[in-house]
Amino acid sequence: MSDLIKKVTEATAKLEQETPASPEALENFRIQYLGSKGLVKAFMEEMRNVPNEQKREFGQAVNALKQQAEARFQEIKAALEANAEQASARQLDLTAPGEPMPLGSRHPISITMNRIIEIFSRIGFVVADGPEIEHDWYNFTAMNTPEDHPARDMQDTFYVVDAPGMLLRTHTSNVQARVMTTRKPPIRIIAPGRVYRNETISARSHAQFHQVEGLFIDKEVSFADMKQTLFYFAQEMFGAPKIRLRPSFFPFTEPSAEMDVWLGTDTEENYRLTKGTGWLEILGCGMVDPQVLENCGIDSREYSGYAFGMGIERQALRLYNIPDIRLLFENDVRMLRQFSAAI
Ligand code: DAH
Repeated sequence: MSDLIKKVTEATAKLEQETPASPEALENFRIQYLGSKGLVKAFMEEMRNVPNEQKREFGQAVNALKQQAEARFQEIKAALEANAEQASARQLDLTAPGEPMPLGSRHPISITMNRIIEIFSRIGFVVADGPEIEHDWYNFTAMNTPEDHPARDMQDTFYVVDAPGMLLRTHTSNVQARVMTTRKPPIRIIAPGRVYRNETISARSHAQFHQVEGLFIDKEVSFADMKQTLFYFAQEMFGAPKIRLRPSFFPFTEPSAEMDVWLGTDTEENYRLTKGTGWLEILGCGMVDPQVLENCGIDSREYSGYAFGMGIERQALRLYNIPDIRLLFENDVRMLRQFSAAI
């Protein structure tokens, strides 16, 4: 029996001389000593052949072998890792120029939207938000658009099939109702965001696009206040020398108008956006209909206000001379990259 103990002690002594020099050699070392078919395991299995009075001594020897093998394994592993780190540090050339990192850029629609926000925030408007999946009350009913209005038609509006009364908002005007039902006047907000219409996609229109809504509610607000605010915007945005307001109709304003911005006839190569007139149509506006104020719980005898809603895509096309609205949604990086210098 002392033979067996001797074998264990010899293996323990030999172990100290092993110096695996690579991760592979280290793994072989581990398998040889500590693996499921390794030495430690094999000695353990011998235990039952050892006479009872020697079991204790034998067990201690095997345990010592196991502990030393494990310690040796950890020691060499740490040494190999430290070596590898040093080696890779030696390969690092600190004088080499850096790898260029491709920079992202803002989307032209975001840039345009931010410009609009910035211009209005200078005169006291703050940004408000509303959901894109909206209840028809906020999108239509509160905004004085009756049940039988053609805008409510399935042909124009995306309805949510599984949720009666829910739709994809057709304009940002829903935010007017969201704000008026939760805040007290004075109200000065702009609400940028995405809207949806059930339309065929072409060079001029898309089923999803962006708008910025504006709402101003206070005591004794006049049409002249609205006109001057919108003129200021046109000047800041396009450097436009003049605007014109054409009478129009919207269910939520009375009177209503559409606003064109004078760009001049020589600013457009193919007259695409102004159809050769020099006037770019950018928004609808008007004095908030008293019925809308009442629908939203605001006393229309005390308060009045104006509202406007503008499309963003057309302004972006104009600002950046983009020929086709679809380019704004395809998101081809070769197109987007051109805006990396813009903010
Ligand atoms: N919501 C209208 C549209 O999408 C635009 C609009 C017109 C908004 C007049 C307004 C407004 O706030 O007063 O066509």
